[in-house]
Amino acid sequence: MTDKPSDKPKLRSRQWFDNPEDREMTALYLERYLNYGLTREELQGDKPIIAIAQTGSDLSPCNRHHVELSKRVRDGVTAAGGVTMEIPVHPIQETGKRPTAMLDRNLAYLSLVESLFGYPLDGVVLNIGCDKTTPALLMACATVGIPAIALSVGPMLNGWFRGERTGSGTIVWKAREMHAAGEIDDDEFMELVASSAPSTGYCNTMGTATTMNSLAEALGMQLPGSAAIPAPYRERGQMAYHTGRRIVEMVHEDLTPAQIMTREAFENAIVVNSAIGGSTNAPIHLNGIARHLGVPLDNDDWQRLGYEVPLLVNLQPAGEYLGEDYHRAGGVPAVIGELLAAGLLPHPEALTANGQTMVENCGDKRSENPDVIKPVSDPMLKDAGFLNLKGNLFDSAIMKTSVIKDEFRQRYLENPDDPMAFEGRAIVFDSIEDYHARIDDPALDIDEHCILIMRGAGPIGYPGGAEVVNMRPPNYLLKKGIHALPCVGDGRQSGTSGSPSILNASPEAADGGGLALVQTGDRVRIDLKKCTADMQVSDADLDARRRALGQMPFAPDSQSPWQEIFREKVRPFAEGMTLQGADAYREIGKKYTP
Ligand code: FES
Ligand code: MG
Repeated sequence: MTDKPSDKPKLRSRQWFDNPEDREMTALYLERYLNYGLTREELQGDKPIIAIAQTGSDLSPCNRHHVELSKRVRDGVTAAGGVTMEIPVHPIQETGKRPTAMLDRNLAYLSLVESLFGYPLDGVVLNIGCDKTTPALLMACATVGIPAIALSVGPMLNGWFRGERTGSGTIVWKAREMHAAGEIDDDEFMELVASSAPSTGYCNTMGTATTMNSLAEALGMQLPGSAAIPAPYRERGQMAYHTGRRIVEMVHEDLTPAQIMTREAFENAIVVNSAIGGSTNAPIHLNGIARHLGVPLDNDDWQRLGYEVPLLVNLQPAGEYLGEDYHRAGGVPAVIGELLAAGLLPHPEALTANGQTMVENCGDKRSENPDVIKPVSDPMLKDAGFLNLKGNLFDSAIMKTSVIKDEFRQRYLENPDDPMAFEGRAIVFDSIEDYHARIDDPALDIDEHCILIMRGAGPIGYPGGAEVVNMRPPNYLLKKGIHALPCVGDGRQSGTSGSPSILNASPEAADGGGLALVQTGDRVRIDLKKCTADMQVSDADLDARRRALGQMPFAPDSQSPWQEIFREKVRPFAEGMTLQGADAYREIGKKYTP
């Protein structure tokens, strides 16, 4: 009796299309979805309806290839007995969106939640790629709770200029310095930067995009190997097909995001992030995704689980190679295989989207090019994770020590009397505009013993948080060969930047954090051994400064309705920059009846 079709668990979409208790509504829902040629067989039989959450569009060049790939997803879904409905996701283009794409992560999240919750959908393929598209879509599937699988668009091909690899984003920082130092003119500047983006796909460096796509795989939300296949490669289309097939099975198995993205999965992802040299945006996004699942995760976890993990992946900005090399060396499965072999992956038994565990998927995978993906016995660097700094400047701020260059290390961290600590005179900028206006002003008298501080660049201050903490020194110091000063700020930094900044400071200045109180000329002490960052100012003086602060300083007026709403509701970076109240809603798609 159990194999009679009527005993099968009913698909969620049948609450719209085949609801015996409400034939009138069923007819209404049906006619509107039949009108473009779908049949009753497709909508009322036992075929799961699979959403393709489409993040590709003309506005989003990094993800635009998803428009093509979705055809292969559709073929896979159809072959496995499902029906697809492609749905638009609010566009998030990292480099094109003003004031910052980060502002729109939560907007795309909210809109996808409503689409998945309010329409007749049984499962979803998440088209991930460009930086914020990955966390926005993972957050949304966490909230809705229907079966979900992610598909990376894949990185761009390697960029080349005069016989050398040029990586997206990273080349901009280098070209900017060359331009400032007078080594290249305006046209060469444009040509050099454009050379880094030779094809469709996401950034080919280990920036936030490669990081978040790799971590979506490390969390178990993609098929093994999916993150790193370059967008134009044939394997990318094949991966799209397999992903489409698999989501149909996942719906029949009722394999939901909460079963895959467990606390164990996040711990694995933190370790993988260190091994790949992942972006400082990763803690914001993973802490945010975890919050929507009810999984506790904070920046202390990042330091405790991630700091002592070695850097294995030799990709720019910390290393030399790019996306194609990463894929050819084995991609994420090879990184996880190397970590497993050394006993460094904390949870080998974590479940993944293909129904297998991490160790089943990656246990026998190894690097196919030890120049690009190193074994644990011969890493690029030891202790490649993030430090979580605290003090009277902020409660939490992240530092990526793996990108500290020798020049910086020698100047600031290798003083035998005070190893791993330094003190300097603060130079404080109240906004990005303030920084640009004054950085080269000789009156600031900036020397190599100064610490640059950027405030007004956090989620409320900017809004969304600007990627501006990696501040270049004044031109007169660059010409003297000083390429990096210590930088501290409540904004973010591009994952493609190689600056050893202390960033994502929470709470931000506009939220009354300690950064609101610091003044140019204050002595600031950073101790990387104790993980502290403090202004050398008495508590009494800090109290007096706080009393003198106006209402919501360091936050200019909002320019749009969403900015207004976002600022009112947003939590600090350390808490994932999620919206207050949003995480009270979990697995809402499972409970819904129309
Ligand atoms: Fe879109 Fe880098 S700007 S992936
Ligand atoms: Mg960025």
